[in-house]
Amino acid sequence: MNWVLCFGVVFAVVFGSSEGSQIRCKFPGHPKNGYLRGDWINRSEGETLRVECYEGFKLKGPSEAVCKNGEWTTALGKCEVVMCQPPKTGRLSISDPPSCLTGSSPYGTLCRMSCPPGYPDQAGLFCSKDGQWEGRDVVCKDRQPPDLKCPSKDQVITHQSDPGKATAKVSFPTPSYTDNSEAHGGKLSFSATLDGKPVSVKKEHELSITPRRFDYHEVKYIVTDEAGNEAKCYFLYRIQDKEAPKITSCPSNIALTTKKGENMIRVSWKEPTVTDNSGKDVSVFCDRVNYSQFPVGTHLVRYHVSDRSNNKAFCEFHITVKLPCIDHPDFPITSVNPGIVLPDPANACSYPASDLTKCDDAVSPFVPNLVWKQICRKTCKAC
Ligand SMILES: *[C@@H]1O[C@H](CO)[C@@H](O)[C@H](O)[C@H]1NC(C)=O
Ligand SMILES: *[C@@H]1O[C@H](CO)[C@@H](O)[C@H](O)[C@H]1NC(C)=O
Repeated sequence: MNWVLCFGVVFAVVFGSSEGSQIRCKFPGHPKNGYLRGDWINRSEGETLRVECYEGFKLKGPSEAVCKNGEWTTALGKCEVVMCQPPKTGRLSISDPPSCLTGSSPYGTLCRMSCPPGYPDQAGLFCSKDGQWEGRDVVCKDRQPPDLKCPSKDQVITHQSDPGKATAKVSFPTPSYTDNSEAHGGKLSFSATLDGKPVSVKKEHELSITPRRFDYHEVKYIVTDEAGNEAKCYFLYRIQDKEAPKITSCPSNIALTTKKGENMIRVSWKEPTVTDNSGKDVSVFCDRVNYSQFPVGTHLVRYHVSDRSNNKAFCEFHITVKLPCIDHPDFPITSVNPGIVLPDPANACSYPASDLTKCDDAVSPFVPNLVWKQICRKTCKAC
């Protein structure tokens, strides 16, 4: 009996359901992305078939069906791929393929994550079998400093001091800068310093004279992005002083007469008054020594004035030293021989001009007194 039953089953397997006593259920087909468990070959009455899904697939619908009276109790469910919902990523994260961030992605999707230019990071996300993302999102940290354009790197800008002033009014060039972060809503902050102190670039600035060749005013521009990346540039101002000092009072010429019997005299004068636009001390040099002895003759006195920028000014005057008028031996003449040669006018500086009254005393036994007096006056005027 057992053998017969057994044979019948074998017969039925080999020759199909049309023969044999048992009714079989129809083969439901192999599930996609999964497999069948149970006797899907014999599919005999009471047999249970179970669907199992491969990794990364999830069953939708019934997992089991029982063969009853030649019919499955239910249609088996289907294995659907597990989906990952868009990952929560940073604001600046970029995915490849882009669809990773726009919709759900099937199991096994690999998303290469990157950042915009200037934010160097790379990472990857993988849609795992349980619908969760594995891996790491990028951290988009801006590491690119802003691009700041200076008038020209290390440039020296030269201005001349304003007339009569120790400064020059200067307008700084308008800074020009951009940054990668601006495309993503990033804000930049700009600041400027002049000689290390914060200044506004919109205002005019009065820069003082820089007298020596390597003295400069330094202007620095600084742009910072929100990530703290900084771009700096600096340039230099040289303020030249080309204005010479002004000598407002130069001593006038001096004429002096030595004392009787001396051929030198001490001469002193007042120092000239000097002003300079720089407002700084100027150097004053005189090529003659004040209150020193000057011999008979004419002497040029020259003041050399120069400011710290080596602008020069000069001032000159003359000192004339004369011998005093001496009493001419021929005046007053009280006695003279006939045929006397009258005093030579060129040499007849007999009296100081102020002292011509002495001619009133001039008497000559040979020339009428009145004429003699006139000769005396005329001759002595040369003094
Ligand atoms: C199918 O049925 C035959 C006879 O009843 C049995 O010997 C065989 O083992 C069955 N096949 C499976 C896969 O169970
Ligand atoms: C020269 O000396 C006199 C007398 O000492 C003084 O009053 C005068 O200021 C001096 N002038 C200069 C140029 O130093």
